[in-house]
Amino acid sequence: MKVPFLDLKAEFEHLRGEILPALERVCQNASFILGEEVEAFEREFADFCGTKHCVALASGTAALHLGLLALGVQPDDEVITTPNTFLATAEAISYCGADPIFVDIDPATGNLDPKLIERAITPRTRAILPVHLYGRPADMNPIREIAARHNVRVLEDAAQAHGARYRGRRVGGLAAAAAFSFYPTKNLAAYGEGGALTTDDDQIAKYARAARSHGQTARYEHEFVGFNYRMHGFQGAVLRVKLRHLYAWTARRQEIAREYRRLLAGARVEMPVDDPQDECVYHQFVIYVSNRNAVISQLAAREIETMVHYPKPVYLQPAYSSLGCPPRTFPHAERACERVLSLPMRADLTAEQVAYVGNAVREIVGNK
Ligand SMILES: Cc1ncc(COP(=O)(O)O)c(C=O)c1O
Repeated sequence: MKVPFLDLKAEFEHLRGEILPALERVCQNASFILGEEVEAFEREFADFCGTKHCVALASGTAALHLGLLALGVQPDDEVITTPNTFLATAEAISYCGADPIFVDIDPATGNLDPKLIERAITPRTRAILPVHLYGRPADMNPIREIAARHNVRVLEDAAQAHGARYRGRRVGGLAAAAAFSFYPTKNLAAYGEGGALTTDDDQIAKYARAARSHGQTARYEHEFVGFNYRMHGFQGAVLRVKLRHLYAWTARRQEIAREYRRLLAGARVEMPVDDPQDECVYHQFVIYVSNRNAVISQLAAREIETMVHYPKPVYLQPAYSSLGCPPRTFPHAERACERVLSLPMRADLTAEQVAYVGNAVREIVGNK
């Protein structure tokens, strides 16, 4: 049985009857940049997150960048974040001319360990940027308390966590602002690049709306030097269609995760811990194994595709060698990167595929 990691072509066939008319509306209105579909998506996604505002943008990276600028991050500031993330989290900090300051993860969840944050705060710290990695909410209450105590702001990197809940509340509304990505592989995904900033703060939303469009507050009135970070009309149309399916898709991801956990109970793997007070949306279902390359090739031999998110912590990437963080600086992040393996996780996996993957992993790694 073949189990591809992703199958975006199959997803399109399923949605074709809804997507094509939506794209046609954009063509008929010729609203290719922002426009009616994007505005409607902004309202619908803000409602979904329970926030006052959603500002649709060109990518998740753009959302992180504008979010940090809106929080006042400036050159030579420091922003505390996790090294166990996609590079874009740190890149957005660098775009502001600020320095990413890494703090190790909690090995149980893979997310920023709040217990380690306070000792990383300096007079230069301007913001904290937790990531809800794999769709599992970061521990936001202690993070917000520390931020309030030190008068620094918090931006959520919610790129992987559309619809996840922390203590009953959706991510996106848990801090000053939140950045979402709609990259084609995300739980809520565009047919191209896309992102959004959500916030309850009128000033942040006002800034982001102007900044995405060359600093314009009215046509050809440029208050400041901004960016071209606008969402395309086609992406707004696609995202509106897919948002209507997101509840069902998330429920299915969660069901698959429960089944994987059941099949892998007692097997020689570790899995991140879910806090029963929260709701993980399983952007990825990851396991930690000691002999990863052997597991990958044995799964590949059974036509099961896997991926590694992520093979190196950000500070060990050549792009961040200038930080001068040697190996072993953050041992939990490094151990996670050495052992992590993402199994196929998407709403359209069949029960047979899930059982096939779970049983294959179990056979390959053996019992504890
Ligand atoms: C955690 C995280 N942050 C930021 C991004 C950047 O989003 P984008 O690719 O839409 O720019 C991504 C995904 O690509 C991500 O996974």
